[in-house]
Amino acid sequence: MMKIGIFDSGMGGTTIMNTIKTLLKEAEYFYLADSKNCPYGEKTNEELYKIVRKNVETLKNWGAKIIVIACNTATVKCISTLRQNYPEIEFVGTEPAIKLATETKAKNILVLATPGTVKSERTHQLLTENQKKDQNITLLPCPGLADTIENNIQLAPDHQPLPLTKAAKDVINNKLRTLFQDVETTPDIIVLGCTHYSLIKPEIQSFFKTSQIIDGNSGVARRTAAITNQLS
Ligand code: DGL
Repeated sequence: MMKIGIFDSGMGGTTIMNTIKTLLKEAEYFYLADSKNCPYGEKTNEELYKIVRKNVETLKNWGAKIIVIACNTATVKCISTLRQNYPEIEFVGTEPAIKLATETKAKNILVLATPGTVKSERTHQLLTENQKKDQNITLLPCPGLADTIENNIQLAPDHQPLPLTKAAKDVINNKLRTLFQDVETTPDIIVLGCTHYSLIKPEIQSFFKTSQIIDGNSGVARRTAAITNQLS
């Protein structure tokens, strides 16, 4: 059975794993929740590469042939170097779904991501390659949001998020209120450019009731399934 390694700075990547599992039941999954190094989005490139390399070594030792980087920050900053240094591993990355958003008729697109993802060259390349003339795309860095989620969310044994406690809801909503205070126009589409944010989609939706909210999870799952089928 194909061994698939998945990692993130904690629980965010379980949203990716859950989506992959709906397509690929016949695989053995190893999930590495690197919560002691959360948040990745506030590390330098060098710090982050060191952390990510260690995760890859661990998953490789567990026998993973495919490694899914279930984290936008680690993907946009590290995937090219990882591919050069580990040619024997098939890496599947997670990038902010900017391309998907620009392929719609949306005029106003809001991308929520970690400070590291917002600053990265790859994210800016995605904008340059995909933004249409009549589209306005705002990149909103969300410092502290991934760790707030990591510290306030609990998962059930099947890795689905449990309902938030009242206290957790308050902490998360206060954080979102601060982050969204300068967003003046209701976006047509909100891109969740960090896998942790998919865990609080209903809370984000309650601030922007009419916006469509998307993430890149299905694309990552389809790519993982395609590679697994090729290698099996
Ligand atoms: N969940 C990760 C992402 O998709 C990283 C969040 C963090 O640790 O800052 O970017």
